[in-house]
Amino acid sequence: METSTLPKNTNTSEDFMPINGTDYVELYVGNSKQAAHYYKSAFGFQSYAQAGLETGLKDRESYVVVQDKIRLVLTSPLKSGTEIGKHIDKHGDGVKVVALWVDDATIAYNNAMERGAKSYMEPQVEEDKDGQVVRAGIYTYGETVHIFVERKDYNGTFLPGFKKWETPDYNPEPTGLKFVDHMVGNVGWNKMNHWVKFYEDVLGFKNILSFDDKDISTEYTALMSKVMSNGNGRIKFPINEPAEGQKKSQVEEYLDFYEDEGVQHIAVATDNIIQTVRDLRSRGVEFLRVPATYYDAVTDRVGKIDEDIAPLKELGILVDRDDEGYLLQIFTKPVEPRPTMFFEIIQRKGAQSFGKGNFKALFEAIEREQELRGTLH
Ligand code: FE2
Repeated sequence: METSTLPKNTNTSEDFMPINGTDYVELYVGNSKQAAHYYKSAFGFQSYAQAGLETGLKDRESYVVVQDKIRLVLTSPLKSGTEIGKHIDKHGDGVKVVALWVDDATIAYNNAMERGAKSYMEPQVEEDKDGQVVRAGIYTYGETVHIFVERKDYNGTFLPGFKKWETPDYNPEPTGLKFVDHMVGNVGWNKMNHWVKFYEDVLGFKNILSFDDKDISTEYTALMSKVMSNGNGRIKFPINEPAEGQKKSQVEEYLDFYEDEGVQHIAVATDNIIQTVRDLRSRGVEFLRVPATYYDAVTDRVGKIDEDIAPLKELGILVDRDDEGYLLQIFTKPVEPRPTMFFEIIQRKGAQSFGKGNFKALFEAIEREQELRGTLH
């Protein structure tokens, strides 16, 4: 059952947790230097900032890459036995931090703590010659954390402690990725409502859409999902949990391989998905494919759209429509050896939903990949 309960603009004067947007996403990875190269080469991110031995850090090295409003931080340990190393050992490469840009990190943190959050990092002021940033953090599902970032007094590169990362000889062109549209978490059996309540109680989010196992199922596998949104709609966190099916669903596979709850996908927006996906493919990004027959019925299902069907079919881009318009979307294969985190590329043309009409074709495509991995049983 799909339900829509939230009016377009919630009155933000009642929003106890105003959030301006996604500040950055930090991944703990085995080799941050090579990961940065991958995100530059394959996805068109730009070199931006760096922190490590040269900036006085002894235990880790971070590279920050940027594309329009999207900032990815790629962090690896410089020695054994670190929290970062343990995170990578357990989960493989994955998202550690979903950072939220706020006006006052201390108030955000205190509000969250009063409402039952578990502390990750008490408010701390970080300072350099370019000003100061205040950050504070709380845990969410698994070992994933939200860090509140207050940067109104900061004019430097990324955060205090980082220096500009310049690569004059290698700067591949951007691919048109603009901002984080939504980020999805996979949580354990019967845990979806627990985390829905967490986002409602602790961060003041609202449940704007719900999908049950009848919406999201194939002959073999199923999952359930609820979409949480903050007051101004800039932050959307769908939360998935597995549902009983004949075979192991993609969410169960994720939980097995990530060995925990965690971020399943990062959806990034573009204004021209055909151009972006053509570009990403030519740079080696691998996408899930639906059968060509998907396109036989697409016009009947979604009606007239601005794009020609031929390039959508050629590139494997999916289309869905809701009351407000339509959207175009496509999903990458996992971007690390474990079948865990992947990216979605999305172009919204009015639609504010998440591609419900594509779920079945998409999950059948994922099942074919699971079959190849021997995890569909
Ligand atoms: Fe998505």
